[in-house]
Amino acid sequence: MSRLPAGFLWGAATAAHQVEGGNVNSDCWALEHASPSLFAEPSGDAVDQYHRFDDDLALLADLGLGAYRFSIEWARIEPEPGVFSQAALDHYQRCLDACRRRELTPVVTFHHFTQPRWMARLGGFAAESFPSRFAAYCGRASARLDGLEICCTINELNLPVMAGRYFHDRASAEARAAAEQALGAPLSSFFLFSDEAAILGNGLAAHAAARVAIQAERPGVAVGMTLAISDEVAEPGGEARRDERRERFYAPFLDAAPEDDFVGVQTYSRNESRADGAGPPRGLPLTTMGWADCPQAIGAVCDWIGRRWPGLPMVVTENGYPGADDARRAVFIEEALAGIGAARAAGADVRGYFYWSLLDNFEWMLGYQQRFGLVGVDRTNQRRTVKPSAARLRALALVQPNGPMPPDR
Ligand code: BGC
Repeated sequence: MSRLPAGFLWGAATAAHQVEGGNVNSDCWALEHASPSLFAEPSGDAVDQYHRFDDDLALLADLGLGAYRFSIEWARIEPEPGVFSQAALDHYQRCLDACRRRELTPVVTFHHFTQPRWMARLGGFAAESFPSRFAAYCGRASARLDGLEICCTINELNLPVMAGRYFHDRASAEARAAAEQALGAPLSSFFLFSDEAAILGNGLAAHAAARVAIQAERPGVAVGMTLAISDEVAEPGGEARRDERRERFYAPFLDAAPEDDFVGVQTYSRNESRADGAGPPRGLPLTTMGWADCPQAIGAVCDWIGRRWPGLPMVVTENGYPGADDARRAVFIEEALAGIGAARAAGADVRGYFYWSLLDNFEWMLGYQQRFGLVGVDRTNQRRTVKPSAARLRALALVQPNGPMPPDR
């Protein structure tokens, strides 16, 4: 029986490293400052949410949304092995309190790509001690943090399996050497470059241990992992490749998910398998990320999961449109929600939708050029400007935050 609350969660998402700024003790910060770097630019002050979270929550509540997905930063909370920062935990307690004041359901992620530098030096996910160290951090944070309701252990645990080759191909020999020097460890100690075996072994073990640790402190909290899932389609001749991709990239993780309260589904696009390879479907325009512009993908993924893992509660923890064309973003959101509604009508147990992202933010190796936000940010003065697409989401989410979703209503 899932611990998810009743009703449909309407929200927007962010991640600590992408919005907070000054995450200097993280492995990612070290990589951003290597020379040459794998990163287009450093995260720096990001969009300063560390100091502006209250204003950002006010914006989110004004958008008519009832939930906020954000992450807490391990590198701040446990700056050295076994040394916990009360001040960092107090900060996240204030974030949770601010959610409560505004009647926003918090969805808290414990690991969103970044970790303390010391964990990278020990090997990251490949370290034998990774599951126990990660679970210890999750347990300690959960003991302190009052007001947790829904928690994601690891964000897109499967991403290194799905996209690891892409990340490795982008890394020049010089950038790789500089990265390893900056980390004091092999590049595979940074989450995105993790080896498949480490993810399937320690990664899944860490997720399960974290769930136990969180619920030992907070038995009523709903816990799950989130997964990056493309809508996998095939042209004639590509069916076997499509099936292989599903079995390798998603199935091992979704097979583990029924132990949890829900699975976080994160879908941005569609991938087409052909007899001779795989890539964005021919004929669809590409977004600024180079992905097929395909709002139908999320509904199709929910439908696929609902049929293959019947009864598995899902929350769409990320879905969004990158790019400056905000009118397209509004249409994208509307079509994505229509697809989710259709999947629900066909039996998929989808319990929430979180648009990625509340704010334009630090898009990892690509820096600040990508713009997924409902809210734009001028980083010269950190001023926020709500985009018109936010009104479209508001109109769809309105009626009552965290209430029913179309077509139920
Ligand atoms: C990640 C986010 C990222 C987004 C867009 C997901 O892979 O969880 O951190 O910004 O996709 O690329």
